[in-house]
Amino acid sequence: MDNIFIMDHPLIKHKISRLRDKSTGTNEFRNLVNEIAMLMGYEALRDLPLMDVEVETPIEKCMTPVIAGRKLAIVPILRAGLGMTNGILELVPTAKVGHIGLYRDEETHEPHEYYCKLPSPINERTIVVTDPMLATGGSAISAVNFIKQHGGVNIKFMCIIAAPEGIEKLHKAHPDIQIYIGNVDRELNENAYICPGLGDAGDRIFGTK
Ligand code: PRP
Ligand code: URA
Repeated sequence: MDNIFIMDHPLIKHKISRLRDKSTGTNEFRNLVNEIAMLMGYEALRDLPLMDVEVETPIEKCMTPVIAGRKLAIVPILRAGLGMTNGILELVPTAKVGHIGLYRDEETHEPHEYYCKLPSPINERTIVVTDPMLATGGSAISAVNFIKQHGGVNIKFMCIIAAPEGIEKLHKAHPDIQIYIGNVDRELNENAYICPGLGDAGDRIFGTK
């Protein structure tokens, strides 16, 4: 499908397997989420525009490319998306960071919004929305709706694990955004958890539960 990019790098596969293991502790889990975000960011940001600037090397002056034009905004979906932010900031330290607070109702699995703040002007930025888990797709769709309502145009969604149902729903709702996925898992269970998945990403990143 157009605009859907599934990672095939062995380092990402290895790190996702470590995330899945229920005996992986909070500190290792958090570090792995950031490392995977950095590796995926390298892939997702390969279309950042460049412009030539003049630099003087110890040998001579030359024209050489730097990141140009539209600046980057990272927008984690709270809580778990926060775990991916620093990995991308390592790649682009000048990026601005917005936040979208959503939680899933345990019964209906519908997302509920509790906080939203975006850097402005959002319409001039490349926006990377982060959330380790794309399950039913409800949270990702709400987050992208909110960003578009505030003028965001160039939007990428980055997740570590996705269920086929969530990918289809997000792509149908927002066919214009690029979706970067670490791994596509088998299915959702009756509680809308991804199988085999890695459990509750927010709880595992922050050591709650
Ligand atoms: C999790 C996850 C996503 C969402 C995915 O968050 O981090 O945001 O569920 O599910 P969906 O695709 O079915 O919407 P959760 O609501 O558990 O909140 P938390 O990050 O605060 O734990
Ligand atoms: N949210 C999670 O954290 N994990 C899942 O498997 C589904 C939604």
